[in-house]
Amino acid sequence: MKQELEKLRVSAKERIKKANTKEEIERIKIEFLGRRQGKLTRILKNMKNFPPHKRPEVGKLVNELKQEIQEELKRKIEEMGKEVVEESVDITLPGRKPLLGRLHPITQTLEEIKRIFIGLGFQVVRGPEIETEYYNFEALNMPWHHPARDEYDSFYLDNGYLLRSHTSPVQVRVMEKKSPPIRIIVPGRCYRRDAIDPSHFPMFHQVEGLAVDKRITFSDLKGCLTYFVHQMFGKDTKVRFRPSFFPFTEPSAEVDISCVICKGKGCRVCSGKGWLEILGSGMVDPEVFKKVGYDPEKYQGFAFGMGVERICMLKYGIDDIRLFFQNDLRFLRQF
Ligand code: DAH
Repeated sequence: MKQELEKLRVSAKERIKKANTKEEIERIKIEFLGRRQGKLTRILKNMKNFPPHKRPEVGKLVNELKQEIQEELKRKIEEMGKEVVEESVDITLPGRKPLLGRLHPITQTLEEIKRIFIGLGFQVVRGPEIETEYYNFEALNMPWHHPARDEYDSFYLDNGYLLRSHTSPVQVRVMEKKSPPIRIIVPGRCYRRDAIDPSHFPMFHQVEGLAVDKRITFSDLKGCLTYFVHQMFGKDTKVRFRPSFFPFTEPSAEVDISCVICKGKGCRVCSGKGWLEILGSGMVDPEVFKKVGYDPEKYQGFAFGMGVERICMLKYGIDDIRLFFQNDLRFLRQF
């Protein structure tokens, strides 16, 4: 009998050792310890075949073996569980990177422009995107019959309002409320009835600038905007002030910079001219001062307005304005 039990012990241990699935363990358990057909259970059930004085000993041996096999099975199950756990927390795996957002290139350019002018003592001011005809045109010396209105044609709402076609109206709103000295920049969205092409979009961003005080001269305008260009595009960039016309400034000038691509030699980007136009500017027209109740004999000022998309396109060599508004991550991730 002892020999038989010994055989069972050896074979049970062997089977448990080799087992590597939970199902196999279960099968071994049933085979040896199963309540009906288990090999050990059967010995106990057939106890009557043993002579009475042997029975207690046999019972003891069988129960001991039963316990041994149970413990062996338990140990094996724990071992297998541990392996599974170890696999699921492989600490050598690289961590999962959280998806980080970033600022849109237009926002980045706006921040850069703001930084430069704040450094010169300008304050950042905002105004409404829904404007009246008075602020968008009339107060800026563009009466209803003025041909310059064509260029600023906007979207009109039913109630007499319109979507502002430039940020210049905020000049007037600020001057109405405050007395000089004034030094402000106005970042914001503008709208125009423009057909979409690589350099036009019906919605775009501008930064307006205005400085009003006693004895402000055209030299101040030149110095301020030259400083801006050097900060934005680098010290080697050349700046040119070209006579122009705006109804709200007199005299007016457009500011060109030497082409950022060919450095002034002439290329496709600057159409062979070597210069790129970046903004409009001028000395505030006395008519505008009169509209807000400033005495043009006492105060002078300069103003300017720049397109943020255009500055951004020149700075990074982007050739299509539509890329800014398509939400294509392949484009946006480059900034
Ligand atoms: N408002 C003009 C535009 O949208 C830009 C501009 C030009 C603004 C000259 C100014 C300025 O303040 O003095 O084209």
